[in-house]
Amino acid sequence: MVVYEATVYTGDRIQATTLNSVHIKLVGTDGESDRTWLKSLVIFRGSVSTYTVSCPNSLGRLLLIELDKRQFGFLPDDAWFPDKVEIKSPEEDVYTFPIHCWISDQETHRYREGKALRIFDESHSLGQYARQQELSQRSLEYDWEFYGPGIPYTIKADGAMTLPDEVQFSFTKTTEFAFTAATGLAELRLKGLVDNQENWKTLDDINGVFRNKDTPLSDYVQEHWAEDWLFAYQFLNGVNPTLIRRCKTLPENFPVTDDMVFIPDGSNLLNELERGNIYLCDYKNLDGMPANIINEKQQYLTAPLVLLHKRSDDKLMPIAIQLKQTPAEDNPIFLPTDSAYDWLTAKIFVRSADFSEHQLNAHLLRTHLLAEVFAVSLLRNLPMVHPIYKLLIPHTRYTLQINELARERLIGPAGVFTLFAASGREALPKILARSLSSITYRSLCIPDDIADRDLQDLPNFYYRDDGLQLWSIIFKYVQRVIKYYYKSDDEVQRDSELQTWIGDIFKHGFLSQLQTGIPQNFTTVSELIKFATMVMFTCSCQHAAVNSGQYDYGGWMPNTPATLQRAPPTKKGTTSKSTILETLPPINVTAQGMATVWLLSRRSSDFVSLGDYPEYHYTEETPRQLQTDFKSDLDKLSIMINNRNKDLEIPYTYLDPKNVENSVAI
Ligand code: FE2
Repeated sequence: MVVYEATVYTGDRIQATTLNSVHIKLVGTDGESDRTWLKSLVIFRGSVSTYTVSCPNSLGRLLLIELDKRQFGFLPDDAWFPDKVEIKSPEEDVYTFPIHCWISDQETHRYREGKALRIFDESHSLGQYARQQELSQRSLEYDWEFYGPGIPYTIKADGAMTLPDEVQFSFTKTTEFAFTAATGLAELRLKGLVDNQENWKTLDDINGVFRNKDTPLSDYVQEHWAEDWLFAYQFLNGVNPTLIRRCKTLPENFPVTDDMVFIPDGSNLLNELERGNIYLCDYKNLDGMPANIINEKQQYLTAPLVLLHKRSDDKLMPIAIQLKQTPAEDNPIFLPTDSAYDWLTAKIFVRSADFSEHQLNAHLLRTHLLAEVFAVSLLRNLPMVHPIYKLLIPHTRYTLQINELARERLIGPAGVFTLFAASGREALPKILARSLSSITYRSLCIPDDIADRDLQDLPNFYYRDDGLQLWSIIFKYVQRVIKYYYKSDDEVQRDSELQTWIGDIFKHGFLSQLQTGIPQNFTTVSELIKFATMVMFTCSCQHAAVNSGQYDYGGWMPNTPATLQRAPPTKKGTTSKSTILETLPPINVTAQGMATVWLLSRRSSDFVSLGDYPEYHYTEETPRQLQTDFKSDLDKLSIMINNRNKDLEIPYTYLDPKNVENSVAI
């Protein structure tokens, strides 16, 4: 008889304790143990308990363990959250089995030993079998669902609560999320705003909404929103830094002439175009999109063009705005020299177009939906023991569930966005499909994206500065981990699971559209490194950049109106204070929008910041050390960003690594 020591680590989290009886079976190269009861009436959260498993003979090298739990007598059935199990063999070898997920059913669950293995490293038939079994089980649990023509596939599920336990929110997050949503709405209901379809009488009245929920920046935005420099600043460091590009030649459909615009210091438009001081934001993605009907009223959504000038004092300022794509007499080019109301109205139309472009393209499609594709594809195609699974799984935390919730509560038939945004209902799937058809791999990789938009030297562009630093820190970490596991291009080519993984992403995420430039397979180690860097960057940094400032910049509604109620002016001199109030969203739409951006900008108490790996998927020393190095690089960057921010009028905090969440989780 030989004895194995099994040490069980239970997660220290709410409701992780189990009153059920837990059984374990050890499987090794030379045999398996009996299914053995871990003799405890209760396994407490945060506990570390050691049990014995006896076998007639040694089991050889341990490959996997099986765990199951059963309801015990009259005690209630419950869920248990084991972190890991360590087994000490009679030969004194220690094997670690990472788990880090809920077990709430009575099924048998298999967990592989922690050392990362590629498919061709599996030397034992049992390991190969377990690998196949795991993937076929997962491909049933994580299936694709067609969401709409031209739109990435999503996870197949009947709502957020039906997803497998391992990808669900923790108890803490579920209760907090429900609480925050309820308190925001309760406050609005108390003030009788949700049912009030009237227009605002004055801008000051809007101030009363969410009075106690302001952030320092939302206060600042309220004070300065109508100023040109803040309008321009937001294209660099607001919630949508993805649109602006340098303009060397004016687009044909934007006939701004020299005599229209005022360029200080005796220069003119032509000179400034040549010198590279002119920038363009073009909302052509929204052209021709049918605007929503809200409160039984037709709404308006335009596809503006904005021209900006970088002055010699490095300030970026808007110099011309055309609200529709086709130049015409009834589509004037608005200028800062027009009446104050004309110019402000033009800027409001741009900010409202930006709301739709930002939420649907920059935020929903390019972070949430892509992160979901990466998550589903990872779960379907790579087993837990695969080194790339271990690398990327922390960056998929809560993504499937938050997206299911978004489909139920935001963009579903009764969702807030569907009902209250200009681009809700009919336009929504059209904008998503158009956005996907123009997405490129290069635009998802910030060094390429900045180069393509020719923005390398634009001053005061903190999204770019911090984003590029983050990219290079992530790249370094990913490169070191991947090079530890893949010594040659040949190993990448031979890894059939990796090839299926990327093929699945190309097909279900990018709908096999070749012009995206997304790889269909990997032929080199460097291709794999770049792609994995892009996945990590998109799920963490890019999402933080487009998500975290939603209340800062959207909390003061006139700065980011979700919809507009009047058509854009067709000639100059027709606007006034009252036309602006008639154009802005009515009271109920404002209230819904502000409650939503408040909820989506909150940080939950179980927030995991970039580079924190509380769950140890890697058990080997080298990748664990690389994670420590990665974290220390991020800490250094955080200090640099904080120092820089001390001198800024508006500190740029969204890409401070401490504020970046590991995954798309809100
Ligand atoms: Fe988000």
